Amino acid sequence: MKKKNIIIDTDPGIDDAIAILFALKLEEIELKAITTVAGNVDVEKCTKNALKILEMVGRTDIPVVEGACKPLVKRLRTAEYVHGIDGLGDTNLADPTYKPLDANVVDFLVETILKNREPITIVPVGPLTNIALSLIKEPKIANKIDEIVFMGGTAGSYGNVTPLAEANVYCDPHAAKIILQSGISTTMVGLNVTQKPLVFRKHLKKIYHKKNPISEFIIKILDHYIAIHKKFFKIDGCAIHDALAVAVAIDRNIVKTKKLYVDVEVNEGLTQGATIVDYYGVLGKESNIEVCVDVDSELFLSMLLSNLQKYQEKY
Ligand code: BDR
Ligand code: CA
Repeated sequence: MKKKNIIIDTDPGIDDAIAILFALKLEEIELKAITTVAGNVDVEKCTKNALKILEMVGRTDIPVVEGACKPLVKRLRTAEYVHGIDGLGDTNLADPTYKPLDANVVDFLVETILKNREPITIVPVGPLTNIALSLIKEPKIANKIDEIVFMGGTAGSYGNVTPLAEANVYCDPHAAKIILQSGISTTMVGLNVTQKPLVFRKHLKKIYHKKNPISEFIIKILDHYIAIHKKFFKIDGCAIHDALAVAVAIDRNIVKTKKLYVDVEVNEGLTQGATIVDYYGVLGKESNIEVCVDVDSELFLSMLLSNLQKYQEKY
């Protein structure tokens, strides 16, 4: 099987952690690197978390590069109230011995994208700061990126950090605008689809029947995430936003998409960070983004859970 070369740009983050663990079990993916960005927690913690996860599952062959410590223009607003002080549901895993590459994220991304024989798919599941900075530094990368499949924004549903804005785009709307206007083939996996397939406590039993540290970690962080969803969104399950972007990157059958014109509000005020999705084409602008408008929740959940279940096999 021909694998897809993928770089995950992430701010782990509970659902980011699940997305990484999921990606590592997908045969279709050749994970070239993980780059980190400030978002759910500060970037040092995000990097540490990515390293902890890779070390835990014995995949220290995958390079981790620490990225931007703040958004392009806005002040950084983190979300420990969702992801825990450590960003991983306060599981407080021991510090990793695995170290990040000693590289600048922009140089790393530009070089990796330009030098890789095959085009690379970028899957950003945090604020889009690193990708925007890389495009500013070397616009030529646009031609070598196969596709960007990002988790962020929303099309026709409410926001999760303001009434209209989704967290990743709200955190760095200026960066999001650069991606949306880049001309790179881009798919938006927004809240309107990521909030549909929910993981409930009953699902946890499926991925955890034999005691082992990886499965135990998965259960702990998801337990924390479900409790947070209950507190803020009054639901008994949780949406694994970032894992859906990973799934969409390798299997389009999971979602229904529509090519639409999408922009983002960057100005301060009530609507900052809102993704403006022109569903009816009333602005008369050329469509620029494949927008996920529906999702096959069952298909995604079975793909996600069956792959997370694989962590039981080792024990
Ligand atoms: C997104 O925001 C973060 O809190 C999650 O990790 C996800 O990437 C959902 O809005
Ligand atoms: Ca994230």
